[in-house]
Amino acid sequence: MANPSLLILPGDGIGPEVMAEVKRVIGWLGEKRGLAFDVSEDAVGGAAYEKYGVPLDDSTMAKAQAVDAVLLGAVGGPKYDTLDFALKPERGLLRLRKEMDLYANLRPAQCFDALADFSSLKRDVVAGLDILIVRELTSGVYFGEPRGIFTEGGERVGINTQRYTESQIERVARSAFELARKRAKKVTSVEKANVMESGILWREVVTRIRDAEYPDIELGHMYADNCAMQLVRAPKQFDVILTDNLFGDILSDCAAMLTGSLGMLPSASLGAPMANGRPKAMYEPVHGSAPDIAGQGKANPIATILSFAMALRYSYDLGDEATRIETAIEKVLADGVRTADLMGPEGGTPVTTSGMGDAILAALD
Ligand code: NAI
Ligand code: MG
Repeated sequence: MANPSLLILPGDGIGPEVMAEVKRVIGWLGEKRGLAFDVSEDAVGGAAYEKYGVPLDDSTMAKAQAVDAVLLGAVGGPKYDTLDFALKPERGLLRLRKEMDLYANLRPAQCFDALADFSSLKRDVVAGLDILIVRELTSGVYFGEPRGIFTEGGERVGINTQRYTESQIERVARSAFELARKRAKKVTSVEKANVMESGILWREVVTRIRDAEYPDIELGHMYADNCAMQLVRAPKQFDVILTDNLFGDILSDCAAMLTGSLGMLPSASLGAPMANGRPKAMYEPVHGSAPDIAGQGKANPIATILSFAMALRYSYDLGDEATRIETAIEKVLADGVRTADLMGPEGGTPVTTSGMGDAILAALD
């Protein structure tokens, strides 16, 4: 059988720096765990503009469609701010998401014990937190028609339309239920069925899919405003939160900040199942290219390493290896190893990007 394939797109700014540490982890898995990956690498964003004259070359797009998973660093930077809209680095990222039809965006909020005091909430509220937000990414109010600014009765009116078809709800609901099966088997579906018809349909379809295909999963429903309250009051009540594009945008940022630094946050975007039964997938840290610290060895590589751990779990069925990496990170943080972004008021000496990589590899050993 062919080795699992991975396309690495380091991108711009700190992207290549954090990706270098992931490559060391991949090397470790090969050497110490006998897990060989078929890794290829290409350019995206500003780096692709320099290499190919476009933010994502057709040849790179074709590779992304063919591999088991894509791992992306970050794109963008002040250097590219004056480029035409179609050539901007973000267009490369958007093209990948659109053409791979990545409709389920996964944002975990996981609290590492050593960082619990970093949270704006009390330690007890967040210690041990492990939730996963599944946000529908390709439809809803950001895309629905009619949209625009029109003139009506002598004044202007701004219109956006929340629109979901049954099949769009079905496919993202299946993603959430599949993910819940690998976790605590609990899904909370979030909408505003009390005031929105699209929410009524959402609730009905999600319930039907659960009853017909996932009777082993516990399903609850919650209004989005209540969910926002519950996330800051008692976030540990959740396992998987399934929601639409707009509510997911807001709730995922809210949940992420329960656990601290941008340098710690991974994400995944999943699409339809491929021939091997696993979803088409792209993994990337939540943060951007951080031009303010690029090239200085200050970037925290953990968000990208955790994104790779998600790939192990969801694209390669190597959940035990993902847990191994997460446990190593937990240990390193418990030992007090910190990049600059994780330094608390007590101070200390931060490690560099590769220093953090060294510590994680040592903990894996
Ligand atoms: P950013 O996430 O790049 O940086 C925000 C702040 O967090 C900066 O102070 C940065 O130094 C810090 N930071 C981010 N990641 C870090 C890490 N791993 N370790 C330590 N510190 C870290 O967001 P910003 O500044 O708004 O955008 C910078 C560039 O990145 C822009 O060109 C923007 O368009 C692009 N961007 C790209 C994204 C992507 O590729 N998915 C997402 C967000 C922004
Ligand atoms: Mg947002």
